[in-house]
Amino acid sequence: MGVEVKVEGLTKSFGSQNIWRDVSLTLPAGEVNALLGPSGTGKSVFLKTLIGLLHPEQGSVIIDGTDITECSAKELYEIRKLFGVLFQDGALFGSMSLFDNIAFPLREHTKKKEDEIRRIVLEKMELVGLAGAEAKLPGEISGGMRKRAGLARALVLDPEIILCDEPDSGLDPVRTAYISQLLIDINAEIDATILIVTHNINIARTIPDNIGMLFRKELVMFGPREQLLTSEQPVVKQFLAGDRFGPIGMSEEKDEAIAAQEAAMQAAGISGGGTQDDFSEIIAQVQPNPGVPVRKAAIRHRANVLEMLPTLPANAQAAIRASIAEEDARAAESPESVATLVALANTDFSTQAGIDAAMASADTQVVERPTEVLTKAPVADAFVKSPAADDTQTQPIDTSAIETAVNKSDGQGSNQA
Ligand SMILES: Nc1ncnc2c1ncn2[C@@H]1O[C@H](COP(=O)(O)OP(=O)(O)O)[C@@H](O)[C@H]1O
Ligand SMILES: [Mg+2]
Repeated sequence: MGVEVKVEGLTKSFGSQNIWRDVSLTLPAGEVNALLGPSGTGKSVFLKTLIGLLHPEQGSVIIDGTDITECSAKELYEIRKLFGVLFQDGALFGSMSLFDNIAFPLREHTKKKEDEIRRIVLEKMELVGLAGAEAKLPGEISGGMRKRAGLARALVLDPEIILCDEPDSGLDPVRTAYISQLLIDINAEIDATILIVTHNINIARTIPDNIGMLFRKELVMFGPREQLLTSEQPVVKQFLAGDRFGPIGMSEEKDEAIAAQEAAMQAAGISGGGTQDDFSEIIAQVQPNPGVPVRKAAIRHRANVLEMLPTLPANAQAAIRASIAEEDARAAESPESVATLVALANTDFSTQAGIDAAMASADTQVVERPTEVLTKAPVADAFVKSPAADDTQTQPIDTSAIETAVNKSDGQGSNQA
């Protein structure tokens, strides 16, 4: 099972520029989490702080019992092996084949023999739907394939924690749906703790168990997805709707005069460009593909949520109860295609013994290898994005020295939308 990441009172500045302060949240072991926030609010800085590439002034990041903000370099090196990181553009070496890119961490960090490395690399490439593309260079494939190659590389060391920085950037909506599905399937398969940083509202609505949002240098909230999606906070509502009317401005927060002007425009029926969707109407969470193991995180998450339910706002409670009822109904409707929902529906959450039994039965469940299903993802992306159309960095980053990657990427607009 993935490990819990506990962040307490974290504050990060660069010189006199404070990025965020007093951020506290816990990524529950093995659950899927998303961190939302407008561009430039320090989401990437947060990811880099979690892996100890950037050093906060205050607070702690406790991973597997170790506070990485004050451990030794040797301990940090060990802790980092728990992580798989998908950087924004896949961060592949431009002159290396996909095979060599994906094999890189194994050659660098393990003493495995070449035939063993080959087996692992091919297995992960198949998992992400890249079988057959071993010899391709990163420049010869589309943005979506580069993301999946980056994900395969993030998986080769069997990470306990997977961090994904904007897995959707530069992808069309369909490719985004495929990569999101892949993250859910991977979570079901290896039970790793996942944190996805994204602007993408569809991902936020359908993928994570928990969502947080950074705004105005603070964590606005962090909790079960229903809590954020039903939030009445203006900043959350504006962000979800993608509207220009609201507290979030073009560069930063707005002053009162502008806010008043906008209120008048809104009253006059002028659109702020946002969707009229009702985000408090919760849509179903994406489920692992048929043939993929039961997602044990879903069992743990439901147990956690039921426990915290009385402490949540009334509308979040109502939304959670509705989600549970809907999931149970879906489990009854098509039990052969939603193993995780069936497991949830059959669990007695009122006792620890009931929860333990569900986890044990999920553990022993015999499943076919899911690769057959997963490779139905579009293997050969038909189009190759032109660099101009791709909002990711085009320059390959040296991930062997992750520090170098951080320094380079910071200079190249890691805060662009
Ligand atoms: N290494 C760095 N040195 C100085 N400022 C930085 C560094 N990295 C990021 N920043 C600044 O931190 C802020 C947040 O950046 P970032 O985390 O990339 O935002 P996001 O990922 O939310 O779009 C930006 O103003 C950016 O310029
Ligand atoms: Mg970023």
